[in-house]
Amino acid sequence: MISIALDGPAGAGKSTLAKAAAKKLGFIYVDTGALYRAVGLKFKRQGYNTDLDCDIDSILKDTSVDIRFIGEEQHVFLDGEDVNSLIRTPEISMMASAVSAKPPVRSFLLELQRKLAREHNVIMDGRDIGTVVLPDATLKVFVTATPETRANRRYKELTDKGIDVNYDDILADIKTRDYNDSNRAIAPLKVAEGGIVFDTDNLDLSGALSALMEIIEKEVKM
Ligand code: DC
Repeated sequence: MISIALDGPAGAGKSTLAKAAAKKLGFIYVDTGALYRAVGLKFKRQGYNTDLDCDIDSILKDTSVDIRFIGEEQHVFLDGEDVNSLIRTPEISMMASAVSAKPPVRSFLLELQRKLAREHNVIMDGRDIGTVVLPDATLKVFVTATPETRANRRYKELTDKGIDVNYDDILADIKTRDYNDSNRAIAPLKVAEGGIVFDTDNLDLSGALSALMEIIEKEVKM
């Protein structure tokens, strides 16, 4: 099986790029952030905030997270419920960042991610795919851009979906999440050994996609 790991900070364009590249290659696109978001939603539903002042293990024991592909689209199921439309809010972004710093949450989601890569050719996007989840991935790419560029993209994505948000709040959230994701003790966001850094700052989607496809064609023998 071929696995392409696409890691990088929030809003760098990973998911849009991964989805488009997977379609071109006939691979499955796995958005691992959605798994952390589903777990974040679970803790929110249990009444907790980002302090996560609770017994994490016992809540996880009572939690199931799964991915199913409906057409080409990934749907995340939390305790049997399709929660795709509930996990993209700024509040759940912050909850996902908080739960993702907890070691039991990371181990809880690890096997599901590895299983998907064993069974399918995948492009998997996340923060630790090349470093932890799939250290032997066929190709590891670290997608990045400045916080301002990323905040602009996230603002547009959310407002296009009709979600009412404020640009400054998004930029502040992105900076907080960058800090949390890069400085946590377990599986911090960093370039994997052997990873290729891919800066999308001055590229629009089609430019970034062509550049990514060039990297893939050069590095991966199909
Ligand atoms: O990619 P995203 O914004 O949907 O991710 C949500 C949060 O989950 C993000 O703050 C970091 C965390 N995450 C992670 O720690 N590891 C991953 N493989 C994917 C996401």
